[in-house]
Amino acid sequence: MLPMEPLDFRSDTVTKPSPEMRKAMAEAEVGDDVLERDPTMQRLEEKVADLLGMEAALWTPSGCMANLIALMLHLSRGDRFLAPEKSHVLGSELGTGAWLAGGMPEALPWDGGPGRPKPATVTAAAGRPGPYFNLRTTLLCLENTHNFAGGAVIPKAEHDALVAAAKAVNLQVHLDGARIWHAATATGASLRDLTASVDSVQVCLSKGLGAPMGSLVCGTKPFIEEARRARKMLGGGVRQGGVVAAAGLVALDYLPRVQEDHGKMKRLATGLRTLGIPAPEPETNILLVPVTDPGPVLARMAEAGVLAVPVGSSIRFIAHRDLSEADIETALARLAPMASWLQAG
Ligand SMILES: Cc1ncc(COP(=O)(O)O)c(C=O)c1O
Repeated sequence: MLPMEPLDFRSDTVTKPSPEMRKAMAEAEVGDDVLERDPTMQRLEEKVADLLGMEAALWTPSGCMANLIALMLHLSRGDRFLAPEKSHVLGSELGTGAWLAGGMPEALPWDGGPGRPKPATVTAAAGRPGPYFNLRTTLLCLENTHNFAGGAVIPKAEHDALVAAAKAVNLQVHLDGARIWHAATATGASLRDLTASVDSVQVCLSKGLGAPMGSLVCGTKPFIEEARRARKMLGGGVRQGGVVAAAGLVALDYLPRVQEDHGKMKRLATGLRTLGIPAPEPETNILLVPVTDPGPVLARMAEAGVLAVPVGSSIRFIAHRDLSEADIETALARLAPMASWLQAG
């Protein structure tokens, strides 16, 4: 019997570059991006800035670096920044917002819905300017979709209300839009709708779109000029970056197909419920299934040929372009014999 190929739901970052993407990388027109700029890189940066309705963009190798650069430019020592609980910038970036960007983080509750605070909570948390020895709250970070809230979307009206609340108390707004593509797809809003009035946004080409690496931090032209300096400080200047920018340009062609990944995750959730497993209805391509103790369940799932990861006391599944609709049915068939484990945890 052939060995069983595992179905990898651990993340939408596990995709492999397609043959078309590898061809574009091999044939990319390149230059030295640290010196006179790389033409393919420049094309990607201009295209993404335009898609998002921002003045300019800068490529970075990762979403963490893009978030960090934005926070370094927004924050000074003695500042505080606000972000919804379990945001990537709070818990998954090794505290760089504090120790490299110099801001004191404060988590906001999800009282506005999964992954987001109410506008009034932002206002209250910002407080008022106090004596010189008080922290100054200067920045609100939002995350759309919110990874650890199960890919929850901040809809356009709530985005606008949160940004307006932040601006009313003189906060800058940074949006971690690693999966903004998924938020726009799920709500029918445009990418520009979901970045409206933010000071900076970072987006990932490696999450769901299939690029092997690459994110872009976007903002005004002067902001991006400073961002280029910050990236260099972090050792992130890329020379013939066009090789990876070419992959990013091909990745953007997947945008009209993001909907397919949402459909795959909905099908997985429906199938799990049919097996008696309490799967919620996913908003995008992420599904969190609550269990009592993820460790042993994940080990059994791996033996059955289905890979996922723990997120708190849930098991996280993410759909992506390298999993087909047939793979979802295969995953359900593999999980069926162990349904009681997933029910009881
Ligand atoms: C919401 C969010 N922001 C930022 C990142 C960081 O991206 P990277 O892994 O490219 O550094 C991730 C990674 O999964 C993420 O989910």
